[in-house]
Parts: sequence; C-alpha cells; structure tokens
Amino acid sequence: MSRVIGFPGAASRQESGAELSRHTKSLYGTKDFREKRRRIESRHLRPGGHQGRGSFHLENVHLICTLLRAVLCVSGMLRRGERNALDSRLRTLEFEFANLPASFEGFRILHLSDIHADGLAGLAEASCARLRGLEADLCVLTGDYRYDIEGSCAAVYPEMGKILACVRAKHGVVGILGNHDFAEKIVHLERMGVRVLMNDSLEIRRGIESIWICGVDDPHYYGCDDLPGALAPVPEGAFKVLLAHSPELYEEAADRGIDLYLCGHTHAGQVCLPGGIPIVLNTSAPRRFARGIWRHGHVQGYTSAGIGCSLLPVRFNCPPEITLIELRTKQEGTGAGSPP
Ligand SMILES: [Fe+2]
Repeated sequence: MSRVIGFPGAASRQESGAELSRHTKSLYGTKDFREKRRRIESRHLRPGGHQGRGSFHLENVHLICTLLRAVLCVSGMLRRGERNALDSRLRTLEFEFANLPASFEGFRILHLSDIHADGLAGLAEASCARLRGLEADLCVLTGDYRYDIEGSCAAVYPEMGKILACVRAKHGVVGILGNHDFAEKIVHLERMGVRVLMNDSLEIRRGIESIWICGVDDPHYYGCDDLPGALAPVPEGAFKVLLAHSPELYEEAADRGIDLYLCGHTHAGQVCLPGGIPIVLNTSAPRRFARGIWRHGHVQGYTSAGIGCSLLPVRFNCPPEITLIELRTKQEGTGAGSPP
C-alpha cells in the first residue's frame, strides 16, 4: 500500500489536510521547497499578493484584462478570438535519438500543455473531439490546468476529468505543475489517474529496457524546480525525457544529459501578429526556446503552444494545439528533430 504524507498547504483552504501520494515526497521532503511553495501559494489567496518570480505578470493585472476584453468586445473581435481558442490543431512530430533504447522505437507521447480547462466554455468538449481516435503510449501534461492564478481551484477539476476521460495512453498519464497550479491539485489529479511528478522521475519499462520521465515543479514563477533531485533515482546513461512547465531550464537540462525536454507556458504568444509572430512570450528564456522545436547542445526540446488560454480566453494567429510526438532511433546521416 502506498505511503502518503500530509501537506496542509495554505492554498488548500477548502481541502486542508489533503494528502500527497508517496512519489511527491522527494520535493516536499526538501523542507525549503515545501515552505517556499506554501508561502507563495498563501499569497495567492489574497488578490495582489503575488510573491513568486516575475511578480509583474499580465494575468495579475485585472484592470488590463478588463480593458482588453472591452476593446475586443466593442470591436467585435471577442467572439472570433474565442472561436479561434476552441479550434485546436493536432501537431505530429518525430524526434530522433542515437541513444534511444531499441524497444522504444516508435514510442508515442501525447503532449498536452497549458490546458487552463476552466477558462472557456466548451474547451473540454473541443479538446475531446480532437483527442478522439488518438492512441499514444504515454500522455504527458506540462502544467497550468486552470485559468486563474489565484483563489479556489475547484472549477477546474470537472473540466479536467472530461478531458482525461478522452485520453488513450497505454502507460497512463504523467503530469507536473505550472505557475497557475496550487499543490492541492496533486491529490485531485492523482484521483483522476495522473501520476504527478514533483521533482521526481518515473521509469517506463519495455522488456529489459527502459526510459525515464523526469518531472520538475514550476521553474518560471514558483522557482521550486529541483532537477538534480528529480534525477536522483535515474541511472547513469539512461534515456531521459524532462517535463518542465517552461523552457527556462534549457541550460541545466543540457548540463544534466536530458535527451528530450517537453514544456509549454508561453502559449506560443497566444495573441500573435499575422504569420504567428508572438507579441509577448512571458519567459526569461531566449525567444528561440519559446515556441516549437529547439535544440541546445545535446538536448532536443519542444515548447507547446498549449490547449488553453490565460489573461483572456482568446487566440489570434496562434491556434491551440495537441501534440503527438514519436520517438525514433537516429539513422546514420540524419538530423535531429524533424519539423512537422
Ligand atoms: Fe499557461
């Protein structure tokens, strides 16, 4: 029977005394991170009290949201932006690796990011329509399950339940938290069958071979990421897929031998100029890491445009996406990740 540890987080006002399952203890066993996240989350229960990294976020400025919404409404663009936000695309990608274990040739990872499931009516249903018929080996969620950044998380769980019910993945669903997520979500996500990795790693075996899925807490805002801690159980030379909410750990990932880095957070701009040119990306990583395929040293990475929205439930020139990634063995003379 799994051992559980208590995490009476300040954010869990409605579910105080909630428990985290056993494999979250590597983060929360590190007292500094547990206290740090608790302190930041407690400030989120008071409007305007944000205390994480990059505290001046557009989503924190309600006046800006109200003004932008009014402008879009008056100009007749709000409905169009909402329709765009429900019109997700399936993006299929192949990444090639010289060190991929042979048993994992063709392994398919369904990558869902920035779902913000309670941000727009009909989002769960539209996402399910896009997921229908997709068969993956593993589904990974790279954080930001709700729309708001403060207050109760209750509204997001029924919507996440609808989306997860449409996911088909042989090895199940693995997730991490983003900057919109409180630690109380871990319990709820796990009840829905998501294995949440908080600075921890999970081995996936096929026969005598395996790959490791490594997940860190949000590096962008909470700053509670602990990649060395996450990698502690991973054997030397193992094939490693890192899940992080944002691309900001690209240098550390390269230093620590990550093979594939999957993330989101930027929404690829969400509201872009014609041609998909982002206006705001909200990351300290260089622009080349903020959307799509990238590479840094040995690490191949993908920053998803995400499924949902933040700030306003609209998208322009930047469709939401569901990503299906296939792992391939690199053949002699071929390049890295193949563009779509
Ligand atoms: Fe997000």
